[in-house]
Amino acid sequence: MALRLVYSIGKGGVGKTTCAAALAVQSSRRGRTLVVSLDPAHNLGDVLEARLTNTPAELAPNLWASEIDMEAAISRYLKESADRLKQMYYYLKVINIEGYLDALKLSPGIEEYATLQAMEELIRDAERRFDVLVFDTPPTGLTLRVLALPRVSLIWGQRLSRLRREILDKRRTVNRIQGERKFVIDGTEHRLATGEKDDAVMQELNDYVVRMAALESLQSDSSRCCVMPVMNADRLSLFETKRAFAALDGLGMPIGPIIVNKVGLQSTDARSIEQIESELQRAVCTIPFLKGDLVGREAVEMFGRHVDFLQWIPGTNA
Ligand SMILES: Nc1ncnc2c1ncn2[C@@H]1O[C@H](COP(=O)(O)OP(=O)(O)OP(=O)(O)O)[C@@H](O)[C@H]1O
Ligand SMILES: [Mg+2]
Repeated sequence: MALRLVYSIGKGGVGKTTCAAALAVQSSRRGRTLVVSLDPAHNLGDVLEARLTNTPAELAPNLWASEIDMEAAISRYLKESADRLKQMYYYLKVINIEGYLDALKLSPGIEEYATLQAMEELIRDAERRFDVLVFDTPPTGLTLRVLALPRVSLIWGQRLSRLRREILDKRRTVNRIQGERKFVIDGTEHRLATGEKDDAVMQELNDYVVRMAALESLQSDSSRCCVMPVMNADRLSLFETKRAFAALDGLGMPIGPIIVNKVGLQSTDARSIEQIESELQRAVCTIPFLKGDLVGREAVEMFGRHVDFLQWIPGTNA
């Protein structure tokens, strides 16, 4: 069966990581499972009591885990973007391309794009090796912006492709009138591409559009992807989850039942849960507030007994 994705999503501190770990432990009994933390402030390794790195480690049969070094992912994203720009626009040597790169470093959205790239690479790699990939995500805001990127980038990519096509058209017109222009850089003769096939920029744009379209369709496919929303029985958690659902619905992402975690701390919890069910119009699973440290696989397994986590894995019958 094709790789299935589960995103553990929620406000800071509600229990996303513990739920992602518990889901992975249960899933590993059915198939090869990788749980990955994309949160710059990792604690997946603490919960699973293992030293995790970028490279997935096998913690038990079929149970693999890793923590992505987001600082390194951002640096790599910037470096790769810079290298590609330099390669594609080699003929703009006279213009200060390094200046653009400095601006790129400070551009808003870099963290989101770097996270998306890390996610995309993980999915591509996991497709060959795993049945289930569980993402332990950063708190809601950043996660929602990352999840929206494939759609946003697709629109951008398509518009830029149109623009590039017009540029190539104009170059052909100029060539017809003036003859083909050649120019020499460092002793080598170059000519500007006029056809889509030999234009590196067009190729890059086409490739990008195809990749973003594939990601978008994967994210909105209920047979391959599911969001596991985690929250607590308080009003702030409800407000945030409500906003998250609106955003996820807008992206067409499938959302599973809601986990209301740490129940029993307040005498008003029962009423809050009713409110959550009626306002969010979705099934709710509750997990009580548990005493003691939730650290190590045994504790995670015990935590997981309160909920059948397989229900968030598409195509898995409990
Ligand atoms: N049901 C529970 N009962 C008691 N403690 C819990 C329960 N669920 C989670 N915790 C504890 O709450 C804390 C936060 O849990 P966790 O790290 O899973 O949340 P998180 O949403 O991933 O947080 P962050 O946003 O910081 O990544 C941890 O100390 C965890 O052990
Ligand atoms: Mg966490």
